[in-house]
Parts: sequence; structure tokens; C-alpha cells
Amino acid sequence: MSDNDVEFRTVIEPFRIHSVEPLRMTTAAERRAKAADAAYNLFQLHADDVLIDLLTDSGTGAMSRDQWAAIQRGDESYAGSPSFFVFRDAVQELFPYAHVIPTHQGRAAERILFQVLGGPGKVVPSNTHFDTTRANIEFTGAEAVDLVIPEGRDPQADHPFKGNMDIGRLEALLAERGAETPVVMMTITNNSGGGQPVSLANLHAVADVCRAAGKPLFLDACRFAENAWFVKTREPGREHDTIPDIIREMTGLADGMTMSAKKDPMGNIGGWLALNDDDLALQCRNLLILTEGFPTYGGLAGRDLEALAQGLKEVVSEDYLRYRIRSTAYLADALVGLGIPCLTPAGGHAVYIDAAALLAHIPALEYPGQALAVALYETGGIRSCEIGSVMFGRQPDGSERPAAMELVRLAIPRRTYTQSHIDYVIEVAERVKAQAPDLPGYRIVDEPPALRHFTAAFAPIG
Ligand code: F0G
Repeated sequence: MSDNDVEFRTVIEPFRIHSVEPLRMTTAAERRAKAADAAYNLFQLHADDVLIDLLTDSGTGAMSRDQWAAIQRGDESYAGSPSFFVFRDAVQELFPYAHVIPTHQGRAAERILFQVLGGPGKVVPSNTHFDTTRANIEFTGAEAVDLVIPEGRDPQADHPFKGNMDIGRLEALLAERGAETPVVMMTITNNSGGGQPVSLANLHAVADVCRAAGKPLFLDACRFAENAWFVKTREPGREHDTIPDIIREMTGLADGMTMSAKKDPMGNIGGWLALNDDDLALQCRNLLILTEGFPTYGGLAGRDLEALAQGLKEVVSEDYLRYRIRSTAYLADALVGLGIPCLTPAGGHAVYIDAAALLAHIPALEYPGQALAVALYETGGIRSCEIGSVMFGRQPDGSERPAAMELVRLAIPRRTYTQSHIDYVIEVAERVKAQAPDLPGYRIVDEPPALRHFTAAFAPIG
């Protein structure tokens, strides 16, 4: 174990820069015009009009020298590529499931799994479903239910594992609707709930409940390494476990997983579905072939599979994870120090500002999170993401109701921005806080039938 955290206060980036990308400076007047052109939907901006892009940590990280080298080894054979076996072995080293099915990203794995397991009348519980998972479940006519512990819905509640499942509510749901429940999910870390971790003790309890009810448990494991770091540093008795051992213990409690390899596997694209059940795997592979491709590439190039295999080796490094989690907390600590209400403790991949608290004058259905995200962009060119009533407010029956929380997520791409970039973000947030009482709410002037946050058009109110 490295002991630099003991000797020095400063946790440095455990890498140096090898290749750089330019950032284009813009003026506030230019940004106001760009925001209006994008109908105040930050997904509609051109990325080169963004200075610091904290929209997502998904596929936006920097690959390492060794990942770029691995790309050169990519073998593009249609069937049976050696790159598939390198990828499969790297996945199974941490997630020893019998079947590993590559997909082009996480939602493709979700679409395939729920096309087999979902359907009208079914119900799928989770600690909290991510938006694509929920949408893929609902698209089949099934119901997606979030059963996170009460602390997980309270931005300021102090709890080391705010992503935990409420075991009592899971037992009650399975007692009442067990016959309609094809699978139980756990999202690790809980992205929609603030990047909050799940404890191993809670996962053991969920697995016990599932086993007693005869239900398979699947992990949505996008940020498994960050979750493992939180287990190691926060869960009593786990401090001497290695990160790979913690990951294998989490994996062993479940029957399968969906994965977006654009997060902790350090990829710019990719995903997989892994599972033990032979029958289910056969059905999933048959669907894979329909839209993703042959089972040894599943929508990815051989070079992508090689980059992911290498990324899986790098993400379990304790030096990397210490820096990763500390640099997220650095931003959260600074914002809280300025009196900007944030979801605490900080999550692994992102800092979530409590827009409902900061912009208390804007009602939930005038989208305080959207108002804050637009202000961060107009003021300093920072792109963030609303995770509130814009993302979750529209119900499957067409009605609209406020989300549980109104958050703005500042997601931190892996190994991409330096501490001075983050210091700039802090300064911009301080300026936005000073303008907060004057920021307008928004109304939606146009929206698609599902996942409206990507394409809806907004207009400021008043
Ligand atoms: N599950 C979780 C927990 C996620 O965070 C995501 C994606 C997915 C599934 C879907 O994976 O994008 O590869 O299809 N989250 C990204 C984000 C988009 O910004 O948080 P995907």
C-alpha cells in the first residue's frame, strides 16, 4: 500500500500529461447567445462552446498510454477475435460470471436483458434505477421501482452508504408482488441518488432476501471500483481487503450484471451483460445478434475490447482511486465551504448541487436544476446536468410530478481535468450563488415522448 496519503496533505494526480486537447475561451455574451440557440438545453450545445465539460463522466475520460497501445493490438476478425478473449478474461478476473456478452454501451445490455425479463405486469425493484434502465424497463410495459433507504433521498443526511437498498421495503415488495418480479437490480454506485455507494453488508442482505424469494439479483455496476474504494475506506473491517477482492465479493453475491464500460472501465465506448444462467444467456445472445452484432464483438471494434481490458486493470489501482475520490470531495468541500448546498457526503464520480435549496424561489416544476445548469454555463462555460424534475418529472401515464430531489450534477471525467480547472469551477459557482435570487425558472416548450431531458426545448419564465 502506498503511504503518500499519510506523509503529505496533497493528493496529486497519479499521472502526467502526454497529449493535450485545446480548450476554446468564450465570452459571457457568446455563451448567452449559444444557450438561447440551444433552447436552454445544454445537451444541444456544440461541445467546443463548452469550457469545462462536466455533463457526464461517461465515455469522456482520458485513456492511458497503455490503453492507446492496446488499441494497436485490436484484432478486427468478425468472429472469434483474440481481442474478445483478452476482454472476456479481463472482465472475468473481476466479475467471474460464466457468460460475458459485449454490447456497444450499457443501455444496450439493459435493453437486451429487459426485453427477455420485462413485459406488462412485471415489476423490477432497484435501490435507484438510472434513467436509461428505468426507460428500458418501462418500454417493455414493466414497472421500475426505487427502494433506496430514506437517507438516500435526503441531500444532507449523513450516512456512509446512501446508496443502500431499504431491505424492509424490498421484502414487502417481494411478499406482495413476488410473482411479478423477474429480477432485482442494484445500482453501484447509485448515480441518480448522488453517486452514493452501497455497502457490502447491504449487498449481502439484498442477496439473502433475493435467495429466500428465489429471485435473481443483477448489478448495474458502472462504478464498481469507486464503490469498492468506499467500502474499503468506510465499511468497518474492510480496510485490509484489496479492491479486486471487494469487487469479486460484490460480484459473487449477484447472478449477473449490466455494465456501461464508459465509466470505471475507462472506455470511450462499450458495455457488457454478464451472467451465470445458460438459458438466459442464450436468449440474450440471440437478441444481441439482431441489433448489436456477433457475440464476440457485440457492437464494438476489436480495438475497443482491448482498450477496455487494459482499463479494467488500471481502475483498480489504489493510487488512482485515492486521487479519484479525493478530487471529487475537493470540489464538494469547496462548494459547501462557500455555502452552496450540496448532496453530502460527496459521491464518487460527481458533485451534486441541491438546486431546490439554492434556488428556493423556483418551484420544482419550473425546474430549479435547469435554471442553475444554464447559469453555470452562461457565467463560466461549465456544462453540468440537471437530475431532477426535467429528467424524472414526466410519468408513464403522461402526468407530471416533481422528482424526489432537484439536483445539478457536476460529473468529473476520469483523468481529464486538473486541480486548477476545478478551482475555476469553484470560482464560477461562487459567482452564480451571488446571482441566485435573480435567476429565472424555465418552462418546457417542446418535448419528446421519452427521455425528454436530452432534446426538450426550454424558455425562461419572465
Ligand atoms: N447505469 C448507470 C448507473 C449509468 O450511470 C448509466 C449511464 C447507464 C446505466 C447507461 O449506460 O450510457 O453506456 O448506455 N450514465 C451516463 C451518465 C449516461 O451520464 O451518468 P450507457
